[in-house]
Amino acid sequence: MEDKKLIFSGIQPTGTFTLGNYMGAVKNWGSLQEEYNCIYCVVDMHAITVRQDPAKLRQNTLNSYALLMACGVDPEKSILFIQSHVRTHAELNWILGCNTQFGELSRMTQFKDKSQRHPDDVNSGLFTYPVLMAADILAYNADLVPVGVDQKQHLELARNIAQRFNQRYGDFFTLPEPYIPKVGAKIMSLQEPTKKMSKSDENPNACILILDDKDTIIRKFKRAVTDSDTEVCYSEGKDGINNLMTIYSIVTGKDFAAIESEFAGKGYGDFKLAVGEAVADHLEPVRTEFARLSKDKAYLKKCYTEGAEKAMKYSQRIVSKVYHKVGFVDR
Ligand code: TRP
Repeated sequence: MEDKKLIFSGIQPTGTFTLGNYMGAVKNWGSLQEEYNCIYCVVDMHAITVRQDPAKLRQNTLNSYALLMACGVDPEKSILFIQSHVRTHAELNWILGCNTQFGELSRMTQFKDKSQRHPDDVNSGLFTYPVLMAADILAYNADLVPVGVDQKQHLELARNIAQRFNQRYGDFFTLPEPYIPKVGAKIMSLQEPTKKMSKSDENPNACILILDDKDTIIRKFKRAVTDSDTEVCYSEGKDGINNLMTIYSIVTGKDFAAIESEFAGKGYGDFKLAVGEAVADHLEPVRTEFARLSKDKAYLKKCYTEGAEKAMKYSQRIVSKVYHKVGFVDR
């Protein structure tokens, strides 16, 4: 690989992404490919920390892989693979786990949240989830990790684990930095615009899925919650309108001032319809490409097989050195 900084990121295999996942993360993954060496993976091993239906997990993993490609991740430019295909992640996970304290894992807010939400299944994988995430990143000695705010604490822990390892065994791991994209945004729920847009929202109108068809997208935007004002302008307290303006700005490239003048004197109804249409048109090529890729199973298989081979080769070099450093007998 060329001498550029290395980016690593992973995404959960939910099968389809929300407009929030897309605008906050996945859309950027494609654009980072020119400036950086990029390694991206679908984290099926992380997914089983909560109960999964096996057949569905398999399907969702393949769909997520195809969707990343449809969103612009090019398996020729980046290394794109499925986590469970590359055993170095599990191997490094064990070693890093032996260098992570129970106390630090107990402080992870996502563990506290998830164990409260699934009190009947507080398994040890859920507890050590951030160690596997650290292994994902450190197995490649990644420089930069694009993550949302909800993952910042986990990334901080990965840095601490790397630092501790370096102190014990001699400087080895690169300390990964969070990558905050220049463009990228937190997209809020269309029904409760103070909350993050989430696929698990009970109200289906709250969340746009990037594979929703045009009519569905427009219908959801028409029902978006706004305020009792009438003017399309970005200002404090107008969470619904601010969110719609952010979305419209991302898909059209227009800034807020331009959007304000475009809709001066028009009502919220016109604006919501325009946002819906712009988003649906923007996502049209993603849907088309996803449909095309989904039919081409052989090509997908070739992509994820080659992706795993490249990831394996890259991470094996690093993990072998780690094995040696901790005192395992060389094979
Ligand atoms: N934990 C991340 C999430 O839930 C996914 C993830 C797994 C990840 N491994 C990673 C993200 C490594 C960045 C780097 O979103």
